[in-house]
Amino acid sequence: MKLDLHNVTKCFGATRALDALSLRIPAARVMVLIGPSGGGKSTLLRVLGGLEVPEQGTVTLNEHRLTGDPRALQAYRRRNGFVFQQFNLFPHLNARRNITLPLEKVHGHPPETARSLADQSLERFGLLDHADKLPSQLSGGQQQRVGIARAIAFSPEVLFLDEPTSALDPEMTAEVLELIQELAEAGQDIILSTHEMGFARAVADEVAFVCSGKIEESGAPQTLFGAPVSPVCQRFFSRVMRY
Ligand SMILES: Nc1ncnc2c1ncn2[C@@H]1O[C@H](COP(=O)(O)OP(=O)(O)OP(=O)(O)O)[C@@H](O)[C@H]1O
Ligand SMILES: [Mg+2]
Repeated sequence: MKLDLHNVTKCFGATRALDALSLRIPAARVMVLIGPSGGGKSTLLRVLGGLEVPEQGTVTLNEHRLTGDPRALQAYRRRNGFVFQQFNLFPHLNARRNITLPLEKVHGHPPETARSLADQSLERFGLLDHADKLPSQLSGGQQQRVGIARAIAFSPEVLFLDEPTSALDPEMTAEVLELIQELAEAGQDIILSTHEMGFARAVADEVAFVCSGKIEESGAPQTLFGAPVSPVCQRFFSRVMRY
């Protein structure tokens, strides 16, 4: 995928969550956003995914120039998949139905096709045995994997993941990170935010450090982690890598 953000500003009241942010990535399979809490990662993901409309600036993802037009935004959102920190599964529906429902209602697939796509997706992630369970009967890692299975069931152009492992313990984190890595290797374009620096380094082909609503520094993971230029990044790494 390629992306181009120019002078993007997004405010919430008096807070400038994104502050004239610019970023050009000519080609990447997996783009990872890192940086301090409150820096603007989630807001940037939401803007890139068409879930928030910036007050200023231009956003182009692949060939799509995002506008504020509600119909165009809705069509754009439907082409992409989203997974958030909290699992966002429907609590009263079993794993399979959590996947078939949006396939039917949002993407217009007939029930048989939806079921077959859902089962393919569940099987791919080793979840078919859990298809009939409610979210409350699944572990956190399994719930998050169902969330990812749901997001990729309709083959999204880009998969957006906002801190997909932050609510998980280390073992479940590993389980979800492996799945994301596998999707990336299979050719899925992914934009994700994470606090897992080891994972960011392993999976990304582009990393952007987001801080105070701007891109402080961006580049290949070897460069950004190995020899960051910005003192802000250096300080951040020296703190988060210490423990
Ligand atoms: N819906 C909202 N209403 C008001 N302020 C918001 C909203 N969303 C984000 N903000 C503010 O915008 C800034 C950026 O927030 P954002 O959630 O993008 O940061 P983040 O980098 O994702 O942080 P974290 O690592 O903690 O998830 C913060 O100051 C936050 O308080
Ligand atoms: Mg966030």
